[in-house]
Amino acid sequence: MGISSTLEADRIAELDELLTKIKPRLLEYISKSDPNSSQYEIGSLGNYQEPQFLKEQFFKYSKDELEKPIESIDELFVVIDKVLKYSVNTWNPGFMDKLYASNNPIGVISDILLSILNTNSHVYTVSPVLSVIENYIGRKYASLFFSNNKKTCGGLTFAGGSWSNITSLQMARSLRYPDTKLNGNSNHKFAIYTSKHCHYSVEKAAILLGIGANSVFKVDIDQDGIMIVDSLKSTIEKTIAEGYTPLYINATAGTTVFGSYDPFEAIADVAKTYNIFFHIDGSWGGNVIFSEEHKHKLAGCQYADSITVNPHKMLGVPNTCSFLLVPHVGNFQTAMSLQAPYLFHGREDDDEENYDLADGTMGCGRRADSFKFYMAWLYYGYEGFSKRINHAFEIVNYFVEKIKNDKRFELIIESPQCFQVCFYYRPKGYSQKDNTDITRFISRELHKLGKYLVDFSPNPSSVDNKGEFFRVVFNSPILTDKVIDDLVESIINVGEKYT
Ligand SMILES: Cc1ncc(COP(=O)(O)O)c(C=O)c1O
Repeated sequence: MGISSTLEADRIAELDELLTKIKPRLLEYISKSDPNSSQYEIGSLGNYQEPQFLKEQFFKYSKDELEKPIESIDELFVVIDKVLKYSVNTWNPGFMDKLYASNNPIGVISDILLSILNTNSHVYTVSPVLSVIENYIGRKYASLFFSNNKKTCGGLTFAGGSWSNITSLQMARSLRYPDTKLNGNSNHKFAIYTSKHCHYSVEKAAILLGIGANSVFKVDIDQDGIMIVDSLKSTIEKTIAEGYTPLYINATAGTTVFGSYDPFEAIADVAKTYNIFFHIDGSWGGNVIFSEEHKHKLAGCQYADSITVNPHKMLGVPNTCSFLLVPHVGNFQTAMSLQAPYLFHGREDDDEENYDLADGTMGCGRRADSFKFYMAWLYYGYEGFSKRINHAFEIVNYFVEKIKNDKRFELIIESPQCFQVCFYYRPKGYSQKDNTDITRFISRELHKLGKYLVDFSPNPSSVDNKGEFFRVVFNSPILTDKVIDDLVESIINVGEKYT
């Protein structure tokens, strides 16, 4: 008698049953949050719940609950229904809190395919198709930015914009100072330059690489949150005088709070003068490359040594999908490879394309996130991405026009450069504390209504801070002027309740 299989006696029938039962639930979940559907429900974005409440929903029996599995599929769906009920429904156009929006039909299908394939895109033997696709789409994507290096450029995905940025710093150090691969930072006293409005991952990268957060020099920005190039130059000079070795400049395309674009052409000149690796963090705003009207904001990006861009933010590809793009794709292996012969069986020829993708990373197992971007590009095309981006800018303009002459609102930046608008709602002359309090109050109350989720922030750099303001992100492709009218009305109505 042979050994019989253990857990999955009839996995085909099981999957069939699960898929059949889940499908109507998923469609209902999305319909409830789609104003174009007859099942649309106001409030379906989801209410804020305290962690204790959620713990009670999911773990109410005992802390050993997972010791015994559920006894029926129906019990499983009780849990699944609660997951859907209490999660934030990002399909709702009122989800304006973070720099990403809902998933979309092709995104769901891509994720299902990835799950069915369960491919690990570290080596070619187990990932033949998805590795070839990643190289193809990485080059196609990179060639939009590196117009001078269309033949040699390329890109790989990492687990989010932060990891793409971190990898870029590792690449800079390995390429410019190859001895660090063996000896670490040893006697090098590296300096990193970035603006006061950069994403925190730049500092984290410095910590992770043993360079240290104190070696990240924050360059001044102007009133629109844009890096001041003269300040960059003087900061570099000062650090050189203090014995630092300038290693890396990070410029941002679409800063996290203001959505500003640094002046890449001028920064590239500075990087060249001082022989510093030049990275652009375009996690948020890099994808304006797809818009003829807005890609001028990236002027000079072709001179970068690396660029991070996240299809999972502006382009609506499901989380996570982030690329690090470089002008010479071989740099991934030059910077990262250890030549682990047990895993990577080598190439016949150094010029050959690398298909063992993990060899160009600091990781091993990896999800083929690039596939989701490839599918989205196939489905929507360049034109579709372009339309999505231009639509978001139209919505931003509509909102700005609507509030700009209303004395109760105050724009922080008159002409936002990206999809977010930063503003105060301050019907009375408030103090700094009042500004913060009313902003937080309105944000919380809108969430309680299950209608809008909007974020707020202090100014990341200002010393004479007027308190926290709204940062509302208009990234959902189903946003319309009607939703915006209702948002403004809701802010005013809820704001009136603030005492
Ligand atoms: C400018 C910028 N860089 C990097 C990141 C990090 O990206 P991720 O959330 O994919 O790690 C963000 C996130 O919002 C960002 O705004």
